[in-house]
Amino acid sequence: MIAPIAGFSKLSKDEKIEWLANTYFQNNETVVNTLKKYWNTDEILQKLHDEFIENTISNFYLPLGIAPNFLINNQLFVIPMAIEESSVVAAASKAAKFWLDRGGFKATVVSTEKVGQVHFMYFGSTEKLKNYFESIKPEFYTATKHITQNMEKRGGGITNIELRDKTAELDGYFQLHCTFETVDSMGANFINSCLEEFAKTFKDNAENFEDFTSEEKYIQIVMSILSNYVPNCLVKAEVSCPVASLTEGETMDADEFAAKFVRAIQIAKTEPYRAVTHNKGIMNGIDAVVLATGNDFRAVEAGIHAYAAKDGQYSSLTHAEVNDGIFTFWIEIPLSLGTVGGLTSLHPLVKLALEMLGKPTAKELMKIVAVAGLAQNFAAVRSLVTTGIQKGHMKMHLVNILNQLEATEAEKKHFITFFKDKTVTHSAVVDAFNAYKVAQA
Ligand code: MEV
Repeated sequence: MIAPIAGFSKLSKDEKIEWLANTYFQNNETVVNTLKKYWNTDEILQKLHDEFIENTISNFYLPLGIAPNFLINNQLFVIPMAIEESSVVAAASKAAKFWLDRGGFKATVVSTEKVGQVHFMYFGSTEKLKNYFESIKPEFYTATKHITQNMEKRGGGITNIELRDKTAELDGYFQLHCTFETVDSMGANFINSCLEEFAKTFKDNAENFEDFTSEEKYIQIVMSILSNYVPNCLVKAEVSCPVASLTEGETMDADEFAAKFVRAIQIAKTEPYRAVTHNKGIMNGIDAVVLATGNDFRAVEAGIHAYAAKDGQYSSLTHAEVNDGIFTFWIEIPLSLGTVGGLTSLHPLVKLALEMLGKPTAKELMKIVAVAGLAQNFAAVRSLVTTGIQKGHMKMHLVNILNQLEATEAEKKHFITFFKDKTVTHSAVVDAFNAYKVAQA
């Protein structure tokens, strides 16, 4: 039976590792070695990573790849992608190249509104609450001046504060529904600080509102927190070309390809089982860029999936049509991103990724990320409706399988040639590898 540990966070990094190895691995030295192998030899860099989170014992690497040739609004980008899944960067690069020859991607930011809410309970007269809210409203702005002044200098701030009656959904439940402009920062700290100040102002001043009875003066603040659902922080990205230019040495003709592609999108719109996988493919591109640029991919994921279900059924984030012989394919997603604050100036690779993108503003990054999602989806659906994805995917996967089998560089080279005209499956690779080893012995 393993005993709980007290004061774990106070232990040094070495002591934490020692405890882990002793308690869960019978003091196995390989555990310690594996963890330490991933420590950076540059102590300053390692300390930086140690301090990103709590109880750090090592670093967890993800490959950072780049996808070149992305023409976005007539400007050429190389897009950084941090992702563990094979084929994703290759697919993005392929889609970028395909659209480079067809006018590239067009992207526009539709809106940039961020949201935060103070959730509270109140069981008195709604009329009096509304009056109280109106009377106290200017105070929200003055009480947060110390937080908002810098953001205002940068062109942002609080854009609206609204009282919302949610009692039809939950007895006694009201909110301050607040919107913000946070310019180039994702704005989580700014929004949460403002909200906590609003909550305090709202609760404390209720004491002095004469129309309230003594019970009505009691406003119970439940919580104050930003929302990762930002349906008015929207970006659109699009590609379009004549149907006739859609093929590229395909086995399928252009009309048939366009029709099948549009069908595939319609299926993802109507069938949630397909929509989830379809959107997962989009997120392959989105998350990889969001992660490489030091943004919060969990926030982005949660917000985007909620948006995919905004009409009451989970549906495709991309849309496609053929009109007068023109194929158009587009995406519309909410994205709350930052290019200042957070990890953006702390993590050396994030800094580099942003530099690679020409130090974009948050709006520019929104466009780049949306394009990465659209490109990824184009590549996936294109493969799905033509050759199927396994052909390309398993070729990439071959290297991963060979790595698992601890193949040497020469062996990898041999098997990449060997499987050029064969179907790659996990068992086929293992069998061929074992047979090769026996033959060599
Ligand atoms: C795999 O990571 C993503 C796909 O399944 C996406 C899709 O089916 O559209 C290929």
